Amino acid sequence: MDLKAHIRTIPDFPKPGILFYDISTLLAHAEAWRETVERLADAVRAYRPDVLAAIESRGFIFAAPVAYKLGIGFTMVRKVGKLPGAVVSHAYDLEYGSDTLQVAEGLVPAGSRVVLIDDLLATGGTAQASVQLLRKVGAEVAGAVFLIELMGLKGRARLDVPMTTLLGYEGG
Ligand code: PRP
Ligand code: MG
Repeated sequence: MDLKAHIRTIPDFPKPGILFYDISTLLAHAEAWRETVERLADAVRAYRPDVLAAIESRGFIFAAPVAYKLGIGFTMVRKVGKLPGAVVSHAYDLEYGSDTLQVAEGLVPAGSRVVLIDDLLATGGTAQASVQLLRKVGAEVAGAVFLIELMGLKGRARLDVPMTTLLGYEGG
């Protein structure tokens, strides 16, 4: 099945000059959604994870059925201020300013093999920060899996973990 045919592109969103790859149409199509989960699960399984880590918010959509399918749990990498209780934080630089990601303390046992999941790899900044955060809590990041890669933005070069992307687009 051609999954790209189910991803809608929207020009000038969220800003003029940006071409937005919209997964809403893929999620709404039962067969495309099922096929996506199957292919992501195959990619993730190859890294033999103990647990998954999903990046807020669109990463959650994909991590949940994949974790269920593989019979493992997943942990949420969240934007700052969303998680209750003790958290571990990692601040990272953006083009303008900085941002912080957090995970709950004590949920990922030290030394566990974690596979990171998100919908899209663009500049790689979010994924890179997530890898660093997971290492801070003692995880071994065994791999990263994305549905979409915007190859022109070279996010791949920022990740020092094995990675798999299902759909590559030349542009950025
Ligand atoms: C988008 C996308 C990735 C990230 C990729 O998330 O879902 O998580 O950007 O960008 P990068 O590779 O340049 O870091 P966004 O921050 O828009 O939030 P959302 O998932 O909550 O919609
Ligand atoms: Mg996101």
